[in-house]
Amino acid sequence: MTEPSTMRFRLLLTVMILGVFRTAWAQSPTYGLGKTPSAEEIHAWDISIGPEGKELPPGHGTAKEGAQLFAQKCSMCHGENGEGNGASAPTVIKNEGKPVISSPSNQPGPLMATHAPYATTIWDYISRGMPFGQEGSLKPDEVYALTAFLLFKGGVIQEGDVMDAQSLPKVKMPNRDGYAPLPEYKRGAPRIFANKTGQ
Ligand code: HEC
Repeated sequence: MTEPSTMRFRLLLTVMILGVFRTAWAQSPTYGLGKTPSAEEIHAWDISIGPEGKELPPGHGTAKEGAQLFAQKCSMCHGENGEGNGASAPTVIKNEGKPVISSPSNQPGPLMATHAPYATTIWDYISRGMPFGQEGSLKPDEVYALTAFLLFKGGVIQEGDVMDAQSLPKVKMPNRDGYAPLPEYKRGAPRIFANKTGQ
């Protein structure tokens, strides 16, 4: 016999599925909820930075400024020397001053400052994702300085190099050529990362 609770669940599921179809059928559903975002609102959310850094805001920073900021805003999680803190925050500085090049025998782990293909990726990540829990609180100057600091510690730039919207995209990342473009996927082709059963 089917439990009454299971039956209720099935009924609910049916109603939900019908609801999805109803939405798909409706020509122009107006639920009286929400509003179309304005151009400014979309602009405020659209803060990601591409490889060429065209979207980078004005501002600048050096590794020296970044070192101070790192001590204030990042070291409590990532460790005083960026060594990481077990499972709670990853290593962000390793082999100080020596670029870590990715190879099967030298896995850099999640070391963005040297592993990322573009320096702008690090700017974007810090700007959008750090400090963890207070995302979005850093000013552009601070993000430039922190990016410069991690790049300097990774042996990618010099301590005095000023990072700004022009210089950052020009930084040649040590692992830039370590990425292979994925071949175009054709329907029915075997998966590139197949599991043990080949599926
Ligand atoms: C509250 C703890 C916390 C603070 C403070 C914090 N982080 Fe993080 N950070 C994390 C965690 C957790 C991750 C991993 C997030 C994930 O994998 O989704 C991370 C990831 C990162 C990464 C990517 C790791 C890598 O190298 O690939 C970078 C870079 C980074 N943080 C930089 C910073 C900087 C710069 C600051 C200071 C402005 C900062 N973090 C402050 C917890 C923190």
